[in-house]
Amino acid sequence: MIRYIDSLEGVSVPMLAGFFVGWPKPPVAETHLKILRQSDYFLLAVDDESSKVVGFINAISDRIMSAYIPLLEVLPEYKNQGIGSELARRMIDHYRELYMIDLTCNKETQPFYERLGMQKMTMMMIRNFDRQACASGENE
Ligand SMILES: CC(C)(COP(=O)(O)OP(=O)(O)OC[C@H]1O[C@@H](n2cnc3c(N)ncnc32)[C@H](O)[C@@H]1OP(=O)(O)O)[C@@H](O)C(=O)NCCC(=O)NCCS
Repeated sequence: MIRYIDSLEGVSVPMLAGFFVGWPKPPVAETHLKILRQSDYFLLAVDDESSKVVGFINAISDRIMSAYIPLLEVLPEYKNQGIGSELARRMIDHYRELYMIDLTCNKETQPFYERLGMQKMTMMMIRNFDRQACASGENE
């Protein structure tokens, strides 16, 4: 069974293995844990049988007007079981009192988010690709 939690209690670094699929320079699991810890809110999908984290979503927010969702990922072998939708639905519900809930995605993923009630919008961005793995130990 998949369990949805918003706490890191009992979550260890090895449980977070396997994410950032396809990223040229992925953050290591320790960094992933720090990202979750320093997020305003996050949710994890945990497989009760393996005790592995199989999906996650995180957000940063001012808790007054806006929230931004940087990351949502479900492990490849757990895709298409509704886990990504459930994580996103719970995140959107968490911030339902805010004016803005934003994220960026590619064209292929737009229908996924449209089904969750989101609208298309153009965005601008900077990506410092040499920082993709993030710097460990900063902001500690
Ligand atoms: C996007 C993602 C989180 C969806 O998770 P999931 O658990 O497979 O999603 P669900 O099972 O709830 O929903 C799957 C549905 O969304 C569609 N979908 C999901 N990702 C899609 C994509 N990249 N392109 C097209 N359709 C996609 C599936 O086709 C499926 O549609 P169906 O129900 O009509 O068959 C997952 O595919 C993933 O981790 N992708 C890699 C990381 C990523 O792209 N994250 C989003 C960044 S904005």
